[in-house]
Amino acid sequence: MIEKGKISQEPFIGILKNLEEAESANLVDWNAMNIASVGQMNQPSSRMVLLKKISDDGLVFYTNYNSRKGKEIELNPKVAVNFWWRELKKQIRVEGFIKKASEKDSDDYFNSRPLKSRVSAIISNQSSTISSYEDLTNQIDNYLEQNDEHSIKRPDHCGLYIVIPNAVEFWQERDNRTHERLKYFLSDNKKWSSHLLSP
Ligand SMILES: Cc1cc2nc3c(=O)[nH]c(=O)nc-3n(C[C@H](O)[C@H](O)[C@H](O)COP(=O)(O)O)c2cc1C
Repeated sequence: MIEKGKISQEPFIGILKNLEEAESANLVDWNAMNIASVGQMNQPSSRMVLLKKISDDGLVFYTNYNSRKGKEIELNPKVAVNFWWRELKKQIRVEGFIKKASEKDSDDYFNSRPLKSRVSAIISNQSSTISSYEDLTNQIDNYLEQNDEHSIKRPDHCGLYIVIPNAVEFWQERDNRTHERLKYFLSDNKKWSSHLLSP
């Protein structure tokens, strides 16, 4: 399940259509996407995350703001996102900027998570070195024992990001490498245009 906000224009209509197709086909992790950021030494890094919401404003996912990706995004808000559904023979490539979603949206999302997931997010210093896996799970168990569920609030380091695309490419696999590529890009006048690309 992902949340669907107001979607009135391409390429967002197309992204949603593909997601709905992947969901209807019961594909595992149909809302998974790879997001790449760039570090201080111009080193790109990428990882999978789960899309939580789509609208004309962009693509929303949840993470730890202090993680490697969070630190990289803080220094360089340019990101790239990739969806691939093998069974649909489709790929979507997105380029754009990223920013934190509103505190209210992050609070609402955090509060919708199961208790253990909320506590795990509080305890985990995502991307930092830990002494042992057991130590991590003990910290989570201790936190659960010592805290009342109602006192659990979203910590500042957990929240939603929104990727605001300025280029989106739809790729459809066809026979004999005659793949179809349709690229949308945001022009200077802030209107979306499109053209076809050679495979
Ligand atoms: C299918 C899949 C979905 C994932 N979803 C998320 C997610 O929504 N948010 C998140 O922070 N990490 C998610 N992860 C874990 C990330 O890939 C990654 O390990 C973590 O965010 C730390 O990345 P970083 O050290 O580059 O910041 C997911 C991993 C997989 C394989």
